[in-house]
Amino acid sequence: MFSADASQDSSCLILDKVSFAWPSGTKVLDRCSFLIPGPGLWMIVGSNGSGKSTLFRLISGMLHPQEGHIYSQLTPALVCQNPDHQLLLPSCESDLSLGLPMDLTESERQERIDDALRQVGMSEMNSRPLHTLSGGQKQRLALAGALASEAKLMLLDEPTALLDPVSQEMVLSIVQNLCTRSEDPITALWITHRLEELQFSTRAAVMENGQIGQWQPGSLISNRIRSLALRRG
Ligand SMILES: Nc1ncnc2c1ncn2[C@@H]1O[C@H](COP(=O)(O)OP(=O)(O)OP(=O)(O)O)[C@@H](O)[C@H]1O
Ligand SMILES: [Mg+2]
Repeated sequence: MFSADASQDSSCLILDKVSFAWPSGTKVLDRCSFLIPGPGLWMIVGSNGSGKSTLFRLISGMLHPQEGHIYSQLTPALVCQNPDHQLLLPSCESDLSLGLPMDLTESERQERIDDALRQVGMSEMNSRPLHTLSGGQKQRLALAGALASEAKLMLLDEPTALLDPVSQEMVLSIVQNLCTRSEDPITALWITHRLEELQFSTRAAVMENGQIGQWQPGSLISNRIRSLALRRG
């Protein structure tokens, strides 16, 4: 599907005929090919067990394809549904420090942390203990962690699934701003079961049968899924 020189391509992410099966034999990706041409908010929907989280583990490098190739020049960072699974240290600042390179000076470290907290609307919360944060604040801190590590490919696996509508909107709009800002926009892949979020995507696609479908306007995908669900009754 892609040229032999895909590794030199300027696209943000390319999957070329990627296949992956778990040792149990469950085939999750089946010659899956797609391309993310540039920064933006790219959303993926698909039924439970269709392989979305496995796809993210492959893109992040936690798993390796058994066939095919994944190309990206961008540093990935994974943000999961439940921030309690990825926040480790007792305060906002100490947790963010964990993802920073060792060779930063103290002032660079501080600047990186302050900047990441500012971008998620949590300035001045450096010393707040994690157990005092709301679910929405924890999820924003997880986003700050990805920003502090200077990841440019954010993999968000149902980041709003556990949030109330206000926090959901906040997280969505933070990521949307990061993806569309004029200077150094990031690329975000966002998995969701919430069809109302698709309208905020740059483009959206459905994962089924081990593959990702065409990138299309989010409203088109959500309308199609809703009418399919109605027909099934
Ligand atoms: N660690 C694992 N070992 C074996 N099989 C696994 C493992 N993780 C996932 N699977 C299987 O891989 C398939 C895809 O799972 P995956 O979690 O990627 O789906 P998903 O699309 O993210 O689902 P959901 O919408 O429920 O989060 C499922 O059949 C699942 O049981
Ligand atoms: Mg999943």
